[in-house]
Amino acid sequence: MDLKTQLSNFKNMEKQLRQKLGASEVKTLLSTAVYMFSIGSNDYLVPFITNSTVLQSYSKKEYVKMVIGNITTVIQEIYKIGGRKFGLSKLLPLGCPPISRALEIVRTGGSGCMEEVTLLSKLHNRALPKALKELKSQLKGCTYSIFDAYTAGTAIFNNPSKYGFEEVKMACCGSGPLRASITCGQKVYQLCDNVSEYFFFDGIHPTEKANYQFAKLMWDGSPEIVKPYNLKTLFEK
Ligand SMILES: *[C@@H]1O[C@H](CO)[C@@H](O)[C@H](O)[C@H]1NC(C)=O
Ligand SMILES: *[C@@H]1O[C@H](CO)[C@@H](O)[C@H](O)[C@H]1NC(C)=O
Ligand SMILES: *[C@@H]1O[C@H](CO)[C@@H](O)[C@H](O)[C@H]1NC(C)=O
Repeated sequence: MDLKTQLSNFKNMEKQLRQKLGASEVKTLLSTAVYMFSIGSNDYLVPFITNSTVLQSYSKKEYVKMVIGNITTVIQEIYKIGGRKFGLSKLLPLGCPPISRALEIVRTGGSGCMEEVTLLSKLHNRALPKALKELKSQLKGCTYSIFDAYTAGTAIFNNPSKYGFEEVKMACCGSGPLRASITCGQKVYQLCDNVSEYFFFDGIHPTEKANYQFAKLMWDGSPEIVKPYNLKTLFEK
């Protein structure tokens, strides 16, 4: 479901709620809620996975600008119907999930992360806080939290055992090199013995254990990793 459709569903829900609860109650509800976005990875990864030429019609900078612009527009729309608190996350180094490593093997025979996609994540991660700062200055009462998944992920990838992981390159479930193909649960796939050793469940999605660590940092992490407030503080504001 694309972002436009999600926004339109949200608007419908707001209408239904108004009929049920009345306008003022809904306004309070919407203005105290925290709107969390997990967004962007597909915008940068899918063109590579599908061999799409979309990235060729933009410069990297322009493409990132479009993605950020789309997110910004949706935040503005949610603000218009009463949303005030937004929780977002920077992107992982997107060259490093198994699916990107497998693409790198196919493309170059290399065994590392796919730097081209990581570069896009870096550009996105730089643009996101700027866009939110700008929004905050335009939209009265708007606040937000940004979790730095790039830094948190890199720390784990560089020192897996420190965080309780044994495998950060290969997926637990899937097929092909690094079990990176997203075929988990389909006709032919392999499953690892112990998912708790893995950072990635499939070619792109982190395991429950990885997500738990990230969730904890988002919730009450220090300002180095979640800015300008963590989610706990954002909820209390
Ligand atoms: C993309 O291109 C690569 C290399 O040419 C090829 O192996 C792969 O099957 C293509 N993927 C898709 C989804 O078309
Ligand atoms: C994203 O932004 C571009 C450029 O402004 C626009 O053409 C496109 O329709 C937007 N996509 C969505 C889903 O809003
Ligand atoms: C699975 O891995 C975790 C993390 O390394 C470990 O604590 C646990 O004992 C393992 N479970 C089994 C059944 O080996």
